Amino acid sequence: MNTFEKDLLDQAASYTHHLPEKKRGIVSWESPSNIAIVKYWGKYPGQIPASGSMSITLSKAVGRTSIAYHFAGSKKDGGLNFIFEGKQVPAFTKRIKKYLDAISHFLPWLTQSELTIRSENTFPHSSGIASSASAMSAIALGLCEIETQLYNKELTEYFFKKASFLARLGSGSASRSVYGKMAVWGSTTGFKNSCDEYAIPLDDIHENLLGIRDSILIIESGKKQVSSSLGHDLMKTNPYARMRFDVAEDNMQKLASIIRNGETARFMDIVENEALSLHAMMMTSNPGFILMKPNTIEAIHRIRDFRKDTGVQIGFTLDAGANVHVLYPEDQAMKTTAFIDTALKPLCENGAIIHDRMGGGPSKTDLLKD
Ligand code: PMV
Repeated sequence: MNTFEKDLLDQAASYTHHLPEKKRGIVSWESPSNIAIVKYWGKYPGQIPASGSMSITLSKAVGRTSIAYHFAGSKKDGGLNFIFEGKQVPAFTKRIKKYLDAISHFLPWLTQSELTIRSENTFPHSSGIASSASAMSAIALGLCEIETQLYNKELTEYFFKKASFLARLGSGSASRSVYGKMAVWGSTTGFKNSCDEYAIPLDDIHENLLGIRDSILIIESGKKQVSSSLGHDLMKTNPYARMRFDVAEDNMQKLASIIRNGETARFMDIVENEALSLHAMMMTSNPGFILMKPNTIEAIHRIRDFRKDTGVQIGFTLDAGANVHVLYPEDQAMKTTAFIDTALKPLCENGAIIHDRMGGGPSKTDLLKD
């Protein structure tokens, strides 16, 4: 068994002799989405990533979650009321119920509690921004805060580690959203404290990369063609998977020094290589998927031409879909946004672009009301 998991189970066992000091309350967290620059794609049982991954935490694309709890002191099956953007969505409720059941051995008080969870996003569900990362990290943070209230504990470094661990069990990439700026998840030699159980924050980021912008080109809105669970599953039989995991490890090692030294051009090279590798994996899986659209490819060409012609250190990354994340340093924002408006906006569905940037991470927030 992994070390941190064992700690958490020991902690859970100690709660059986220790009744909560507080029985009712409400907590509320705002947590951002993140965009991976080294992609997590492929996993082992227990939500263990097949390679290390790294992401930029976003600022504006956030999810908000309030959790009202009542510790009833006796077994409460089905004690969950989940409201997403003011409505009951049975498919989401089912997923959250399954998640809470799966983590209840780490939070034994859950089985004796009634919860009302209200959740909403600041960005459209159909924008292709990872809503599971913001939603699951906000829920995990909320659950960890409930525990601090029940057992009179502080929000320490351990608190965030545990939140990242629990968020990971809901959605792998959510483990990284618990931290601001940039985060690494998955054991990799480039980052000595990295591990598979939870993400770690990156603190030694060169000023060239701090505040990096991410303008998200909505080439196509709507539901994802390939769910991440299917994508991770396809890696089990993809003939190039082993090689892909080695490339991710190599990219993580290179980025360890690039991020400290602020070599933006090399940074963009690796980020683009990662995005194209992710799509190469999808194309070479069985069945194979082509998730880029003609406008995705056109945008990539225009970004690369602009970089070549102007020397602006712009680059792109892609998630598992057609939308393009345009990355560029904060000090080159003026010139770049003008280019985005004239050359890239026409490629977007209804001209839709979400201008975001590296953000400071989750925070407690006001309560959500119906
Ligand atoms: O966390 P999941 O299971 O939704 O997988 C995320 C997969 C990617 O977004 C494509 C890459 C990543 O590392 O975020």
